[in-house]
Amino acid sequence: MGKIHVMDHPLIAHKISYIRRADVGTKEFREVINEIAQLMCYEATRDLKLKDVKIRTPIAETVGKELAGRKPAIIPILRAGVGMVDGMLSLMPAAKVGHIGLYRDPETLEPVEYYCKLPSDCEERDVFVVDPMLATGGSSTAAIRMLKEKGVNNIRFLCIIAAPEGVERMQKEHPDVELYIGALDEKLNDHGYIVPGLGDAGDRIFGTK
Ligand code: PRP
Ligand code: URA
Repeated sequence: MGKIHVMDHPLIAHKISYIRRADVGTKEFREVINEIAQLMCYEATRDLKLKDVKIRTPIAETVGKELAGRKPAIIPILRAGVGMVDGMLSLMPAAKVGHIGLYRDPETLEPVEYYCKLPSDCEERDVFVVDPMLATGGSSTAAIRMLKEKGVNNIRFLCIIAAPEGVERMQKEHPDVELYIGALDEKLNDHGYIVPGLGDAGDRIFGTK
């Protein structure tokens, strides 16, 4: 079963409480989402593989460590996932960025696919799929299914808020994917929104409604 990492860092907890507030506007919401993504990126990259590298300091030759393999890939699920990309890139500035377009049909809550553009050789990279919300799990499980159909298997999934229903579905459908969760909430309501949650993440990031 894929590991679940629920963040326990005080800064992440503080920032999530801040953006849950209904009166936080678009500018601040967007900024803090990126700050949380940055902190979560730090946690989610702990086990990236390293290789030895010879370096010369101003004093001596030594052997240091650097990231092994191809550059990582960050794949936001459109559209709210885009709100986490700058925060991720602030720690991994050379990462490649792909996009998967999905939206939830408001009636069925089932994901509808509309876009997929991935970095080249994505299957050789460490892939970080990002979306602020894991609710029913329909969108994230479909996005990961799309990636696996294209041969991508080394996948981590980062979300800021998750519902237990979504976590369960992810674990069932993609037990190989490690989950990094900012806060694990109580439940879904009848409209598929996370309770207490933070509302519609896409609308709050982009100022739409
Ligand atoms: C939201 C969110 C996730 C999805 C989560 O996107 O960003 O992608 O819902 O819900 P689920 O786990 O039940 O699938 P939405 O469909 O509202 O699209 P948007 O990002 O374009 O606003
Ligand atoms: N998508 C959101 O943006 N918010 C929720 O609470 C559930 C799905």
